[in-house]
Amino acid sequence: MHYPRILITGSDGLIGQAVQRELAKWPEADVLATGLEPRPRYAGKTGGYVALDVTDQKAVERLFQDFAPTAVIHLAAMSKVEACEDDKEACWRTNVDATANIARLCKYHGARLVFLSTDFLFDGKSGPYAEEDHPAPINAYGRSKQAAENAILLSGLNNWASVRTSLVFGTGDDLKRLNIATLMARELKAGNTFLAATDQLRSPTYAPDLADGIRRIIQFEKMGTYNVVGRERLTVFDLCKQTAPIFGFDPGMILPTTTAELHPGAPRPLQVGLLILRAESELGYRPRSVSEAYAHLGKRLGLPVEA
Ligand SMILES: NC(=O)c1ccc[n+]([C@@H]2O[C@H](COP(=O)([O-])OP(=O)(O)OC[C@H]3O[C@@H](n4cnc5c(N)ncnc54)[C@H](OP(=O)(O)O)[C@@H]3O)[C@@H](O)[C@H]2O)c1
Repeated sequence: MHYPRILITGSDGLIGQAVQRELAKWPEADVLATGLEPRPRYAGKTGGYVALDVTDQKAVERLFQDFAPTAVIHLAAMSKVEACEDDKEACWRTNVDATANIARLCKYHGARLVFLSTDFLFDGKSGPYAEEDHPAPINAYGRSKQAAENAILLSGLNNWASVRTSLVFGTGDDLKRLNIATLMARELKAGNTFLAATDQLRSPTYAPDLADGIRRIIQFEKMGTYNVVGRERLTVFDLCKQTAPIFGFDPGMILPTTTAELHPGAPRPLQVGLLILRAESELGYRPRSVSEAYAHLGKRLGLPVEA
């Protein structure tokens, strides 16, 4: 058996760090992490790190030649919804053109591609969605992810998996961005109230569980589209109400609002969330409950977690 050589793009984001932590449990895997910055933010043990801007197609090509990956976990993206709306060209270059190039290189070098996609592919009128439901994105970010999925299909690469996920939370080393759990913790710790949308249904996903699903896809050599999310579908308001006490905070500090009030800069689908039957049955994927995940995360954040 050949040992896997796994290239990760966008490795210093929340998901990239969780994936690196997960792959460290697979000693045979040779992992090369890449990101925009000259040095990695992730402080854990990795096989190595090099700076790589995925929009620099020649640099990506050189790295494929040097490292000869057998699998690529492609996480690098413009993932801020408002930023994509404000600069659609940059969003397209990063999310679509770079993915098309990586798919082309995977095909040429015989590497497997695992691409990270989103429940924002859908219009949010009738979620939760299964893998075969028809995408109908309503913002630039969602459109770019749908186009990236299509670019992979059109590349002629057979060995690909699109992993669709939703509202990922967790922690990592020196992360640039907060997520729903760490943002709530920061505000409540400071004694502030926290506004959460009552009209947006998602499938909150704990980053280590998602990383476990991604590792399974590579290890079991699975292909096609997989929804990899948490098992509960909740409004963001209910999620925060339910989890504030787990972090030791008063749930009365969570106040209701609407998605449109909270995020006026770009439309967001409302009733999204994803079904995980395929991941459960084909990958043996078993995500934690929201309560278990927040208890685990709270301890990592040093919060007085309630048992
Ligand atoms: N988090 C979620 O809830 C969620 C849900 C669905 C899908 N996803 C997808 O999952 C993937 C990872 O997301 P994440 O949550 O870990 O987000 P993230 O923290 O924003 O990670 C994206 C990473 O890509 C990097 N990046 C941006 N442009 C790049 C470029 N041109 N070349 C190389 N790297 C670049 C970012 O670096 P900088 O931070 O330095 O810009 C960041 O480290 C993304 O594809 C995202 O669309 C995430």
